[in-house]
Amino acid sequence: MKLRIALLACGLALSVATIAIGSQSTADSPYWTITDNVLERPEGYRKWVFVGEPVTPNDMNGGAAPFPEFHTVYIDPESYDHYASTGEFRDGTILIKELVSVGSKEAVSGNGYFMGEFIGLEATIKSSRHFPDEPGNWAYFSFTNAGGPTNPTAEPFPTASCNSCHQLSAADDFVFTQYYPVLRAAKGSGPVAEAPQDPWQPTAPTPATSDGLPVSEAALFEYLQDGGYGDFEAKESRTHPGRGPHTSVTSPVRVFYNDILASSMEANNAEHPRGASAVKEMFTADGQPQGWAVMVKTHDETDEGRGWYWYEVTSDTDSSALAANGNGVPGCIACHSFRDQDLILSGFPLR
Ligand code: HEC
Ligand code: HEC
Repeated sequence: MKLRIALLACGLALSVATIAIGSQSTADSPYWTITDNVLERPEGYRKWVFVGEPVTPNDMNGGAAPFPEFHTVYIDPESYDHYASTGEFRDGTILIKELVSVGSKEAVSGNGYFMGEFIGLEATIKSSRHFPDEPGNWAYFSFTNAGGPTNPTAEPFPTASCNSCHQLSAADDFVFTQYYPVLRAAKGSGPVAEAPQDPWQPTAPTPATSDGLPVSEAALFEYLQDGGYGDFEAKESRTHPGRGPHTSVTSPVRVFYNDILASSMEANNAEHPRGASAVKEMFTADGQPQGWAVMVKTHDETDEGRGWYWYEVTSDTDSSALAANGNGVPGCIACHSFRDQDLILSGFPLR
């Protein structure tokens, strides 16, 4: 089951990017400068401490990995020393990941992935003074500018875009140390002991039926292929760029509510009744169908998302291309808890 929920970090201006930060400018760290909520692109990070090199090649990720290809990850040297001696990320820590394309797949040494050109730059900073309200005090920034030189400045992303995934899946204080042997060795924690929680697995049983859309995988896929949801009265009139990284941010999406959900949204209910259902059609950047995301309320109580059935398939022909299927999927809930109406993000009425 491959996760296609993707995050495109290509310098796109997410209009909701507002994280309140404490002060005007900073001397919290010699390694980064934030002024009026804006981080200057750090310099000199290639001389910091190298921590790891994950690779998500485009050719293993449907042609467009969320963070394309090689990720060279660095930590500032003072925070490395602090981590090595205390096992903790200090206030002021910055980690950078520099994205490099796959230049070729064969060399005189053999077949593989060989580094090509610099294509992007992402950063995360822990600062209780600047990000008092962010989980773990971590904020996330992207200087990546698809197809061009990296941007000189960046604003923090909304919590739901970056932080919640790190919170759910990273092994140590929001940092993916399970992929950074250098940091594990520094801390003396040895190999990764326990696998972190897989945020795309259900955490509650799904009942056999709901009063809304089918909640069994095969019946639901058939229903979606037949397109019956197109008859719902509450629907968006056309596609719009998605704000959530379902396939990749800004790819077109179109949302539909069944009657139960539409009347409950209209009534402004804090919890939608059993049977409330939403479908989100997803398309590639050039408008080809790319599957569906579905939510069905299987219980009257929301129960922190366990009362919802969550389903996402990233193909309209291959029912096995599942990103999620079941009740209480934490990866879906994390984002959907962000300024929601019982975990529904598209508001009412749909336009
Ligand atoms: C779907 C989950 C997911 C989302 C969403 C996500 N990341 Fe990450 N991030 C990862 C994983 C996994 C790694 C470690 C392996 C790697 O580099 O791919 C990582 C590593 C990083 C690192 C290196 C330091 C660290 O914390 O491990 C930075 C910097 C980073 N991400 C920035 C971002 C930014 C900026 C965003 C939002 C635009 C973001 N991430 C959103 C999964 C995610
Ligand atoms: C990183 C954030 C994020 C994650 C993770 C996420 N979503 Fe969403 N989702 C959104 C946003 C934002 C919208 C609003 C429509 C849009 O702009 O894309 C949305 C819309 C939807 C809708 C239409 C109803 C609504 O709430 O507006 C469904 C159905 C849906 N998502 C299902 C899922 C499922 C199933 C998962 C887990 C596999 C999931 N989502 C994971 C951000 C996210």
